[in-house]
Amino acid sequence: MPLLDIQNLSVAFQTRSGVFSAVTDIHLTLDKGEVLGVVGESGSGKSVTMLAMMGLLPWNAQVTADRFSFDDQDMLSMPEKARRRLTGNDIAMIFQEPTTSLNPSFTIGFQIIEALKIHEGGSRRQRRERAIELLDKVGIPAPAKRLGDYPHQLSGGMNQRVMIAMAIACNPRLLIADEPTTALDVTIQAQILDLLLELQQERGMAMILITHDMGVVAEAAERVAVMYAGQLVETGTAGDVFHHPRHPYTGALLNALPERHPGQGRLPTIPGVVPGIEDRPQGCLFNPRCPHVQEDCRQTRPALESDHSTGSSHDVFKKVRCYHPLVAQEQGEVAP
Ligand SMILES: Nc1ncnc2c1ncn2[C@@H]1O[C@H](COP(=O)(O)OP(=O)(O)OP(=O)(O)O)[C@@H](O)[C@H]1O
Ligand SMILES: [Mg+2]
Repeated sequence: MPLLDIQNLSVAFQTRSGVFSAVTDIHLTLDKGEVLGVVGESGSGKSVTMLAMMGLLPWNAQVTADRFSFDDQDMLSMPEKARRRLTGNDIAMIFQEPTTSLNPSFTIGFQIIEALKIHEGGSRRQRRERAIELLDKVGIPAPAKRLGDYPHQLSGGMNQRVMIAMAIACNPRLLIADEPTTALDVTIQAQILDLLLELQQERGMAMILITHDMGVVAEAAERVAVMYAGQLVETGTAGDVFHHPRHPYTGALLNALPERHPGQGRLPTIPGVVPGIEDRPQGCLFNPRCPHVQEDCRQTRPALESDHSTGSSHDVFKKVRCYHPLVAQEQGEVAP
């Protein structure tokens, strides 16, 4: 039984000009201790999907799913209070901007100790000790001294470490990291990613790592889900998706990796942008940007279907949403 099981999740937003689907037909499963990478450009629906999971979407969002369970408990039908307890104890989320999640008016010590109070009780002294332990764990030097600091006194990378300390304070079984390193310098990005993976392994947590960087996913994830304009377009093991991309969008993302073009000044990019929720095209959502587009792609929307082409037919997770998936030769174009 998977830890997380999402079948046919959709989210629609009520806006001034009508009701629009932000994400549709999302299927995700995650086993205990597994790392799933979710990739896609800005606007592809990565955050909306995760916020739906946490019950953190604004009031104008409508969430539906055939199945949405964590540890075999149905998240959609459970009472609000029970759900909040579940997401508070067993699922934690780290956001892109630590400054939006840390309160600027309180010291980081106060914020961590408050979080611990909710989750594990104990005396004030014990919680203080535990806060120091957590800060030490996430690599903050002289943690006892840092407790009295306010977020603005720390660098972006240090604040992100504080966020991670708070996220792991309650020993979650699932950690969702939504672009945890995007706001940071490249060298700090690598350090934070290493820290997350180290904690994930040490604690046997499952992790969903959201990013627009295929390189990050390659390094960290066992399985990958590629999203485009609110839909999954390809899912599979990291090895499969990297070596045998089937969706032209996945191919284009891989082709944009700097390491695939050593010594070249300009990298290939994908022309155009992800369509917003109010201007999605007819047919395949990627068709206006797809180098392999054919007539049928402009007519009807393809379904996400199992893909048995790469010799990985045993993997039920290997799926693609495309009428004309890339064949070996075209995959070769994007190989390193
Ligand atoms: N409250 C809302 N009301 C209306 N539309 C929304 C709302 N929140 C998100 N959307 C739309 O849903 C779509 C998916 O957004 P989402 O934030 O999930 O993208 P993302 O993949 O996380 O992008 P990024 O990489 O920039 O974080 C976007 O078109 C966005 O404009
Ligand atoms: Mg996002």
